[in-house]
Amino acid sequence: MQKKIIFSGIAPSGNIHIGNYLGAIKNWVNLQNEYNSIFCVVDMHAITMPRDPKELRKKTLEVAKIYIASGIDPEKSTLFIQSHVPEHAELMWILNTITKTGELSRMTQFKDKAELSTGDSKALENVPLGIFNYPILMVADILLYDTNLVPVGEDQLQHIEITKTLAKRFNNRFGDTFVVPEVHITKEGMRIMGLDDPTKKMSKSAKSEYNYIALNDSEEIVRKKIKKAVTDSGSEIVYRDDKPALKNLINIYSLLSETPAKEIENKYVGKGYADFKNDLAEVIINFLKPFQERLAKLDDKKVLEILAEGAEKVQPLAKKKLDEVKRKIGFIV
Ligand code: TYM
Repeated sequence: MQKKIIFSGIAPSGNIHIGNYLGAIKNWVNLQNEYNSIFCVVDMHAITMPRDPKELRKKTLEVAKIYIASGIDPEKSTLFIQSHVPEHAELMWILNTITKTGELSRMTQFKDKAELSTGDSKALENVPLGIFNYPILMVADILLYDTNLVPVGEDQLQHIEITKTLAKRFNNRFGDTFVVPEVHITKEGMRIMGLDDPTKKMSKSAKSEYNYIALNDSEEIVRKKIKKAVTDSGSEIVYRDDKPALKNLINIYSLLSETPAKEIENKYVGKGYADFKNDLAEVIINFLKPFQERLAKLDDKKVLEILAEGAEKVQPLAKKKLDEVKRKIGFIV
């Protein structure tokens, strides 16, 4: 039987953090053994906000290296850079024409990024169009490869929903063309919260660096950030919904050390935040250190070759699907 297909990606922007790792990459590493896996560095998504070109180039390569240093095996999975396969942008245009503006303006990410919640009616006029329709680019990414499963964090759920909607809409209008994908989410890792504010997700573009643990943070910085991480009132180490800060820290501890939350609770009975935080910092460092060593050893040239080979491998698949789409809508192919 043919293996099912997974597709996912990370935008090379901001500081890639343990939320990106726990919500996405860690699951990819496990899934790559069972699925035909395609992992993309989505550079076209990164330019929805102004980027320094040099920085974008550097970050794009860095994200690919992060995939590999995390355990994505280029022998098992296909890695490539989104802009190397122009079919993504072409399919996006076609899908634009079957998307309703209301469907996009309801997206939480759009509202957040456009800061519409401030109630400033002028804010909308200054929002780059790419922020508005970038979900359609993501839809194109997914649908081009007959993807069955999309492993992502919770913040991408709405984007997977619109992917399903557009796939079905196209299929209804033009005949069966796209596979309607499903989302893959893990309960604990799907939403790692900010260390400085456990009511909001950990974010690459957070204003304060105390919001996240970046994958390239040094030991010293990790200790400093964990020491400063906000906690809840009280002093016991418990995993409960009414203690969102602790719940988040225990989640990070649990996922990085593969220890059930209950066991962590038991370990800290009678102990306080200081002990717990010291150990949590060590757990994070024990994960980051070997990861950073693997990352440092990766050769840029070799990684660029892997990415070029990946693009070469997927481009014919993308072209085949796009040609099918073009034929169905009446283009002369
Ligand atoms: P991006 O680059 O913002 O995030 C990459 C992945 O990390 C997950 N993530 C989190 N998971 C848990 N806790 C958090 N605090 C956290 N923050 C981020 C995200 O859910 C995501 O899985 N548009 C996408 C990238 C993309 C994509 C795709 C993904 C483009 N095309 C096709 C899947 C399939 C994005 O900007 O993710």
